[in-house]
Amino acid sequence: MNQPLLSMENIVKTFPGVVANKGINLTVNAGEIHSLLGENGAGKSVLMSILYGLYQPDEGQIYYKGQPLHVTSPKDAIRNRIGMVHQHFMLVPTLTVAENVILGQYQPWQALNNMDQVAARIRQMSSDFGLNVDPLALIGDLSVGEQQRVEILKNLYHGADLLILDEPTAVLTPQETEHLLKFLRELADRGLTIIFITHKLDEVMQVSDRVTVLRDGKVVATINTSETNPRQLARLMVGREVLMELPRKHGEAGQVVLAVEKLAVDDERGLPAVRGISFNVRAQEIVGIAGVSGNGQSELALALAGLRPVHSGQILLDGKAVQNMPPRELSRLGVAHIPEDRQRMGVVLPFSVAENMILHEYNQPPFVRRGFLASRTILNHARSLVKKFDVRLSGVEVAMANLSGGNQQKAVVARELHRNPHFMLVNQPTRGIDIGATEFVLQQILAHRDNGAAVLLISTELEELFAVSDRILVMYEGELVGEVPPDRNLVEEVGLMMAGKKMGVA
Ligand SMILES: Nc1ncnc2c1ncn2[C@@H]1O[C@H](COP(=O)(O)OP(=O)(O)OP(=O)(O)O)[C@@H](O)[C@H]1O
Ligand SMILES: [Mg+2]
Repeated sequence: MNQPLLSMENIVKTFPGVVANKGINLTVNAGEIHSLLGENGAGKSVLMSILYGLYQPDEGQIYYKGQPLHVTSPKDAIRNRIGMVHQHFMLVPTLTVAENVILGQYQPWQALNNMDQVAARIRQMSSDFGLNVDPLALIGDLSVGEQQRVEILKNLYHGADLLILDEPTAVLTPQETEHLLKFLRELADRGLTIIFITHKLDEVMQVSDRVTVLRDGKVVATINTSETNPRQLARLMVGREVLMELPRKHGEAGQVVLAVEKLAVDDERGLPAVRGISFNVRAQEIVGIAGVSGNGQSELALALAGLRPVHSGQILLDGKAVQNMPPRELSRLGVAHIPEDRQRMGVVLPFSVAENMILHEYNQPPFVRRGFLASRTILNHARSLVKKFDVRLSGVEVAMANLSGGNQQKAVVARELHRNPHFMLVNQPTRGIDIGATEFVLQQILAHRDNGAAVLLISTELEELFAVSDRILVMYEGELVGEVPPDRNLVEEVGLMMAGKKMGVA
């Protein structure tokens, strides 16, 4: 069992202005689950992209199954039975599962002739692995969790012996995560070798045999999971102690800032998603919304952000009706929005980081003067935000697309929080960010609350909700089914309510 399947030796990779990998050594044994852990920008995705043939290393060698490995494209990697599920999915939404699975593998005419066989084999594999994937379903109709199963199945279909998963759980609900981790364990028991990237220490502890910690492009340690613990891993990763508990001040909540009255919102297919809910958020208060994703939280957030029409009911900001107001006007009224899907709503990937930092304000002074963009002001503004929020990048002129996933998220958080919003709508703010940055972002949210902001925090992470909320509302099937104080003895209660059990005062 303990034969190295893969060894990457002295891997160096430089981009203009950044050395992403500074001589990395990584050995992965056959049949193990090997976690890769490290701060945002530490070089995890770049290292794996090299292995998958997306980038060429500047220096270093790779040995795979005892032979030197040279991959110059993902096609090469697949031929060598190396598969990868990316941090941001790469499926084509307008094609079926089966079409996506063989995409790029055959000529179109071959593909057409083989479609029935392909579908049959997918159906067979799906039932073998208990994956519940319909080969004829359109990707666009599938949930995130289902799409991920398709990505994994695609790799198994092409005979992967080594499977790389880049933050697969960042987008999953706790239930889906549990399911995925079990499935990975099963695959490893059948002999598959897995490299698993995550920011969640409990997942590392639960699923992996060994873990390699990267910091700033270098390996800090490779350890057996059975010989470590979350605290030690956190320290190795960040280079200091990380607060697992945040100190918080007690303050009286002030006036009602946001009042939601009998709000109903439809989903994108026109079906009711939010079913007539009412609640308030006061100044100097953080109200958490817990729930399994897909219970109306997304639609609630979109409606509050002016991005989805309200079906009925009211949204009042300081007593003034603001439902169906465009986002730009809401922004002028002091509403900040950290969206759950940064790549679709938070950033414009081809634009520079500096441009992304003024998306709401590009046509206002001081960023525009006499009709011209004030470039120096814009650059300096971005530099100061990047510094304050510790966004790791080579310069604010680079395209947002070149930042690591977590650093894109930190940039959005920086842009939204710096304006000292009056009302903050925060949806999954720590998705994909490392534990050090999570601590920082949550501290920032707490600080804004202490300064008087009203905050609505939507999260599927109970840990996070209990750490900062003043009270927690539980959403289930479009309704609020309970309200609890952030007392950790109630975590289990909340879990049950999230699954549909009614209790407490709604
Ligand atoms: N195509 C690119 N062009 C320029 N710089 C890049 C490019 N890809 C990555 N980088 C830089 O390389 C460094 C490592 O990035 P990488 O994506 O590997 O980080 P990561 O460890 O995966 O972080 P995260 O946890 O945030 O996903 C970062 O500083 C990033 O900005
Ligand atoms: Mg990454």
